[in-house]
Amino acid sequence: MKELSSKHESAIIPTIVIGNQETVIAQSLKTVRDLLRQAKTVEEMQGFWQTVNALEALSKKFRLSKEVQLDATELRIRIERLLGEMLSKNTKKRQGDIRKQSQNSVNVDFDFEDIKSVRSNLSFTTNESLKFQQLASISDEVFEAAITDLRTEAAINRKTALSTKGILRTIRNEHKKDKEPLFSPIIKPSDNWNFSTVQYGRIDEKVREGRGYIPGEIYANCFWYYVKQGDLVIAPMAGSGQVWRVYEARQEWMGQHVYDFKLKMFDLTPRGKYKILISQHDLIKSCPVVNPDYIVMDIPYYGMAAQQYSNKPEDLANMDLENWQRAIGTIAKNCASAQQTGTLCTVISPNYRDVSKGLIVMITDTIRMLWESAGYILYDKTYSSRRIQQNQNPSMARMNNHAKANRIMLTDITEVLTFRKV
Ligand SMILES: C[S@@+](CC[C@H](N)C(=O)[O-])C[C@H]1O[C@@H](n2cnc3c(N)ncnc32)[C@H](O)[C@@H]1O
Repeated sequence: MKELSSKHESAIIPTIVIGNQETVIAQSLKTVRDLLRQAKTVEEMQGFWQTVNALEALSKKFRLSKEVQLDATELRIRIERLLGEMLSKNTKKRQGDIRKQSQNSVNVDFDFEDIKSVRSNLSFTTNESLKFQQLASISDEVFEAAITDLRTEAAINRKTALSTKGILRTIRNEHKKDKEPLFSPIIKPSDNWNFSTVQYGRIDEKVREGRGYIPGEIYANCFWYYVKQGDLVIAPMAGSGQVWRVYEARQEWMGQHVYDFKLKMFDLTPRGKYKILISQHDLIKSCPVVNPDYIVMDIPYYGMAAQQYSNKPEDLANMDLENWQRAIGTIAKNCASAQQTGTLCTVISPNYRDVSKGLIVMITDTIRMLWESAGYILYDKTYSSRRIQQNQNPSMARMNNHAKANRIMLTDITEVLTFRKV
């Protein structure tokens, strides 16, 4: 506690009568507030600072109401800010004088004695003086917002205190936040969703490459572009829950615009790390939720994943083209009857090309036709690379030659088709 010898104190703080401390301290704080404007020098302002320091200590010692304690602390911080303004002005003036002297090429001897004598009149430390000047450098708007927030927090939460340090910390954190990128690079600005490095890769690295794998980044972009705050989203072919992993990590890829929505997962054969969160459901029978705002499904690509998820006959991966088309048509109708006009449904699929059989099946056109006849219109279409050329090993080189020789391209592009219910 600072020495309480200032002439202001005896004038401002009358003798404390036990039982009446709260009124006396509140009245004394009011007097300081009224007199503050009269302080013209650092020394005078310092007098008020010492007085309020004393009042603050007394308010705590007598365990006065939280309101009076916070009043005292708030006033002390405001005085520190005013002191900071005065000290900064003095420093700037001194620097200007020194510069002038050196420009006139007078032999400049820094008058350390002078500086020392200024400091010796002050009862706060160099560190405190620095903090006061930091407080003074904050704009009025930001300072008022920070002190109000911290005071409110301190009034309701016993663990939070209103303090100079706390205000400076809040401001520092705000600045840090401002430096965070506005948007994550995962969110793509165009309809080319290619990810040179994949942050949300396979969940289970042991499983052979190619099994129902899409980079989680595709889900992140779907959520960003097609989902609004508070929406109910369903992933009815969630498989091993990649979609959940991306949803859980939304703080990472939403940049400065984090928003919340609800996600429910289903699959014919739930598996993997998030299995417990995925409800078993056959989408050919019905849509598992009424009125979803958004549906996103990474469907089993026709002809590419037979027996990979299960050996069930109702598993789309195990069907021939005719049954696959019929089942997908039923799924489109089930989604349409569950969704309201204007809501969106995304279907993710590549086309199918079989080099050995010389077969080309325009699966994405079939999907479009089926969704349109179920009551949707095509709302948006984006592309993403399956990165099949990423491994330039001898077997890839053989596949490439095979494709060229047979005049049937390999499939690399995944289409992300988004439909709007009419
Ligand atoms: C391409 S995978 C989706 C993989 C997913 N992206 C992941 O993170 O694992 C397609 C999923 O559709 C599921 N599926 C196949 N037939 C289905 C049906 N009739 N109803 C619901 N899900 C089905 C499969 O079990 C598989 O998990």
